[in-house]
Amino acid sequence: MNIKVDISNVRLETERLILRPWTREDLDDFYEYAKVDGVGQMAGWCPHKSKEESATILNMFIAEQKTFAVVLKASHKAIGSVGLEEVREETMLASPLKGREIGYVLSKDYWGHGFMPEAVKRVVEYCFDDLGCDFLLCGYFKWNHQSQRVCEKIGFQFFKEIEFATRFNTFEKTNLNIMYHPKKVIR
Ligand SMILES: CC(C)(COP(=O)(O)OP(=O)(O)OC[C@H]1O[C@@H](n2cnc3c(N)ncnc32)[C@H](O)[C@@H]1OP(=O)(O)O)[C@@H](O)C(=O)NCCC(=O)NCCS
Repeated sequence: MNIKVDISNVRLETERLILRPWTREDLDDFYEYAKVDGVGQMAGWCPHKSKEESATILNMFIAEQKTFAVVLKASHKAIGSVGLEEVREETMLASPLKGREIGYVLSKDYWGHGFMPEAVKRVVEYCFDDLGCDFLLCGYFKWNHQSQRVCEKIGFQFFKEIEFATRFNTFEKTNLNIMYHPKKVIR
């Protein structure tokens, strides 16, 4: 089952980052990284072709309130996102366990400094401690070594292999990984 998510009043902090809801003022920062070739494709979507396209997605983030902006404390720049996506039907764990699937993207300019593991670790804590999730899923295309490393650093374990239909009409073999609530006995 999907747990209910509403991050509209949520603000999380880490040493270097703030995680907060997206706002319309983030459009330039969002478009700046979403238009770059080789970023979105690793998560299954095409680089944005125009600022209008980014504005449409940003409006969706604002309406749905399930995707955090990852903001650098040092500059207040939005450099990525962490989303709490609905768990797909075919990967759903037996009811009544509740959870979400985490997805993330970081601006290419900031790769390799451990920003995303830092952000996702904090979001995982929020999901278990505040939302009350029983489990979290996180998937990466088998060829996406960078995302695999993020999953490993956070402590996700292999769960199952699935095929993911991308926005650019391919099916990518995907490793779906899982983390259970560290304190609840649910297995
Ligand atoms: C996956 C992603 C979020 C990782 O974020 P990050 O903050 O750079 O994570 P890390 O700093 O921990 O680096 C992870 C791995 O990326 C690789 N990496 C680091 N810098 C890199 C660079 N400049 N170029 C390519 N790969 C790099 C390394 O293998 C690193 O692992 P290591 O720490 O064991 O050496 C980021 O690469 C990204 O946004 N990729 C595109 C979108 C995506 O793949 N999303 C996930 C979909 S499931």
